[in-house]
Amino acid sequence: MEIVLSGIRSTGHLHLGNYYGALRNYIKMQDNYNCFFFIADLHSLTTHPHPDDFHAGVRTILAEYLASGLDPEKSAIFVQSDVPEILELYILLNMISYKGELERTTSFKDKVRQQPDNINAGLLTYPVLMASDILIHRANLVPVGKDQEQHLEMARVLARRFNTFYNSPVFPEPKAFNFGDDLVKVPGLDGSGKMGKSEGNGIYLCDDEQTIRKKVMKAVTDSGPTEPNSPMPDSVANLFTLLNIVSKKESVAHFMESYNNCTIRYGDLKKQLAEDICAQTLPIKARIEEIYKDEDYLRKVVKRGTDLARESANATLKEVRKAVGFRSFLNSDD
Ligand code: TRP
Repeated sequence: MEIVLSGIRSTGHLHLGNYYGALRNYIKMQDNYNCFFFIADLHSLTTHPHPDDFHAGVRTILAEYLASGLDPEKSAIFVQSDVPEILELYILLNMISYKGELERTTSFKDKVRQQPDNINAGLLTYPVLMASDILIHRANLVPVGKDQEQHLEMARVLARRFNTFYNSPVFPEPKAFNFGDDLVKVPGLDGSGKMGKSEGNGIYLCDDEQTIRKKVMKAVTDSGPTEPNSPMPDSVANLFTLLNIVSKKESVAHFMESYNNCTIRYGDLKKQLAEDICAQTLPIKARIEEIYKDEDYLRKVVKRGTDLARESANATLKEVRKAVGFRSFLNSDD
């Protein structure tokens, strides 16, 4: 069975974009692949979260993963920092990663611009840590968004380079998995591009009814069409995209018709949209709250996931160490 791996940093909350763009597809993959899903808490340290908030960030994403439908009986669900094998591979891959190629990474250049006071080495080697996450399980498929493609390319480069450098075919080259027609791009509510954690245009799985309503009612529109079958401005098209994702076909058709014959009232569309988003997310929100509190359950999930992850990681690391030439004085069978 092919190995699937993906992770998300433990910053903030999951939003509709994460849910419809990624999670729903992870959930489908659980039946057909050997899946590893983890929380990248080490990656989130690049921005120096306060120690008092750090664990809550991890726990939040874990609860939101599970509430959305990731199934700990089907997938290994774990926290990156619980698998120290990743870090050993990270230091070894750092030895065959070059300053120039890391400095050329788009995400690094963006960070240099965004946070000139905190250009730490962890940011520079972020793609090496991500490659370690992937290669430690010899993953074949990595479901990620477009913004991660360059990082994935780096993982492929490092896999190939390691295999050649040490003349041992330890790593397969991981491929980005995209869902083809199933890939849903969820737009933001501000009339601009996609919904994102850092764009401030998101609806979160943990938002309550009132918050969702407020956010939707505030969404950008225009003054409405004045001629039949007018082209749609992006802001309105975005609302229709969202409607398509969460609402019944009949509602979409109804509002489309009223747009085309100029009788549309955006207030009515937004009311329907808010209601339909709530119908989808409020049950998840209720589960998030329940799971977040359930320390015993969370421990069980993470215990099982970590055991599976460490077993897989150790098997890889054994081959890696052999390839690099380690032989311990302490372990005669190494
Ligand atoms: N860099 C990813 C992001 O910011 C998170 C991540 C870390 C990841 N390690 C990974 C994703 C390994 C896929 C595979 O979204």
